[in-house]
Amino acid sequence: MAVKNVQDLINDGVEGRYVLVRSDFNVPLNDNREITDAGRINASLPTLKALSEAGAKVIVMAHLGRPKGEVNEKFSLAPVAEALSEALGQYVALASDVVGEDAHERANGLNDGDILLLENVRFDPRETSKDEAERGAFADQLVALTDEGGAFVSDGFGVVHRAQASVYDVAKRLPHYAGGLVEKEITVLHKVADEPAKPYVVVLGGSKVSDKLGVIEALAPKTDTLIIGGGMCYTFLAAQGHNVQESLLQEEMIDTCKKLLDTYGDKIQLPVDLVAAEKFDKDAEKKIVDLDGIPAGWMSLDVGPETVKKFAAILHDAKTVFWNGPMGVFEFPAFADGTRGVAQAIIEATANGCFSVVGGGDSAASVRTLGLNEEGFSHISTGGGASLEFLEGKTLPGVAVLSE
Ligand code: 3PG
Repeated sequence: MAVKNVQDLINDGVEGRYVLVRSDFNVPLNDNREITDAGRINASLPTLKALSEAGAKVIVMAHLGRPKGEVNEKFSLAPVAEALSEALGQYVALASDVVGEDAHERANGLNDGDILLLENVRFDPRETSKDEAERGAFADQLVALTDEGGAFVSDGFGVVHRAQASVYDVAKRLPHYAGGLVEKEITVLHKVADEPAKPYVVVLGGSKVSDKLGVIEALAPKTDTLIIGGGMCYTFLAAQGHNVQESLLQEEMIDTCKKLLDTYGDKIQLPVDLVAAEKFDKDAEKKIVDLDGIPAGWMSLDVGPETVKKFAAILHDAKTVFWNGPMGVFEFPAFADGTRGVAQAIIEATANGCFSVVGGGDSAASVRTLGLNEEGFSHISTGGGASLEFLEGKTLPGVAVLSE
């Protein structure tokens, strides 16, 4: 079945109807519970505005963090409701529960065009349950917030790789539509996955090789070059015999990295120098070292300047780039140069006609935290895990269900 979108829903007539929308508001917060990167909130606005302007009674479902099925104020969506109200220029009420009395009262009281945000759906253990019947019972209660004209819009691209109640099971119970964000993300990622202009360069960082193993194995045959930096590069460097001292290391993955280097050694590009730090601290003493030069007891927290030059030269000629994962601990300004340098090289390549996509999560946050020009990239995805799983060729349950 062809997937219908929000415009189809509006054309079908949405005024006065309840629309459950799944958004991804899993945003980073600091210790004061302030949102440090509102990228996902901003990306959700067009769909919410379109539905509100068309007169729908909008009920938004979202999660924040992993509260493990328990109500925990630390994971309340209160900061999101506030930021959303401000960004939309329209008051968004937050229900104090998910499918309880307050959610029902507030849903019943909605006027056409109003937007209500439910509290964190992961406060209910059934949201993420592996048991379909449990998830189904929760989905039934979410659907009960609507009435006979209810519809579902899937707009939380960052979470479509999860077969969870508010993403998947609700879609099975209501007429369902793809939100504008989900549509846009899928179109862009199809372009990268199916018809990448060559040279096609993938840049991977982030802390764990194990998280990226699937994507490395799936993408290595398709790419021209696979640049590896960030926390995961130290396991590769260890596999080459370098002493990475106290740097992040997944010892159990060393053999896997050796095999990947044996198979794809001509494509995989690793750092040639590093920024070593005496300890994991923003003010730590630091020095630029070669691959075997990390002092005993120190750790590398960033790739070095020669590495940035090497990676930038590769990126200069690229016609398609997919980037997921920072090159170092960019949250500490002293260790942000590797990530900044690689990002700038991608921006320059984009200005020369390269199609560039930044995977969600930390790399998208780093673009904004480092004050880089977001417009300099062809697309900044809101989905970290979701975009990687898409490029790995996996089925995304929250997208597949929209075709049923
Ligand atoms: C994300 O941040 O990648 C999405 O919101 C999904 O969150 P999760 O990994 O906790 O399911």
